[in-house]
Amino acid sequence: MRRKYICGNWKMNKTSSQARDFAEKINKFDFKNVDVLLAPSFVALESFRKNLSEKIEVASQNLSQFNDGAYTGEVSTSMLKDIGVENVIIGHSERREKFFESNEIVNAKVKKALADDFHVILCLGEALEVKAENKEVNFVKDELLKSLAGIENLQNITIAYEPIWAIGTGKTCSAEDAEKMCREIRSIINKNYGEISKEIRILYGGSVKPSNAKEILSQDNIDGVLVGGASLDADDFIEIIKAGEGL
Ligand code: 13P
Repeated sequence: MRRKYICGNWKMNKTSSQARDFAEKINKFDFKNVDVLLAPSFVALESFRKNLSEKIEVASQNLSQFNDGAYTGEVSTSMLKDIGVENVIIGHSERREKFFESNEIVNAKVKKALADDFHVILCLGEALEVKAENKEVNFVKDELLKSLAGIENLQNITIAYEPIWAIGTGKTCSAEDAEKMCREIRSIINKNYGEISKEIRILYGGSVKPSNAKEILSQDNIDGVLVGGASLDADDFIEIIKAGEGL
C-alpha cells in the first residue's frame, strides 16, 4: 500500500520569517494517513526545520553533484545533512529549462544524493510542443531512463510527473491524462527495474489546488502531489492534505 505523499515546492518564495509564520499555522493541523513534505528556499531551510512539526518532512529544491570546493553559489549534501535535511527535489523543469540542467547533470545529482543517503524526488515532464506532437510518453521515458542511468536501486526515489504546460498556468492536466502518464511511468519502471514499480511513489504536479486535489489523488497510479502556488498558503495546503487524508 503506497501512502499518499503531499509535497509543496515553494520555489523562490517566502523569507525565513514568512516560513516561520507558515510553520506556526500548519503545526496546529493534525494528520495521520498521509506523508507531508515542504521545500522552502535554502536560506529558510534550517530555521524552518526547527520551527516545523517533526511530522512534516523538509526538502531542498536542489543540491550540488560535487562534494565541496570551488563551486561558488552551490550547496552540498553535507551542508544540508548538517542542518537535518535528507530530502531533495532534483530535475525540476525550471532547473532544467532556466538553469540548463541536462539529463546528465540531473543524473549526477541523483547519484550524489543517493550516495549520501538522501531521498530524491525526481521531476519529469514534457513541454507543450512535445505534447502537441503526441510524443510525451517517449519524452518522459527518455528523461526517466537518462536521469536514472547507472542507478539500480530506486528504493529512495519518488517520481514527480509535472507536465511543463500545466505548471503555474492554471491549466491542470485532466486527472485521467495524469493517471495515464503515471501508469506509463510505472510500467516503464516495471520493465527496467522490476518489482520496485509496485512500491515507488509517483506524484503529479501542475496547478494542483484544493478544488482538484481530491480527483487527482483518487487515481490508482497517482500516489501524491507536488504543489507549487497552492502550497504557499497554509490554508490551501491544509485543504490539499485533507483531500489525501480522506481517501
Ligand atoms: P504549480 O502548482 O504552481 O503549478 O507548480 C507546480 C510545480 O512546479 C511544483 O514543483
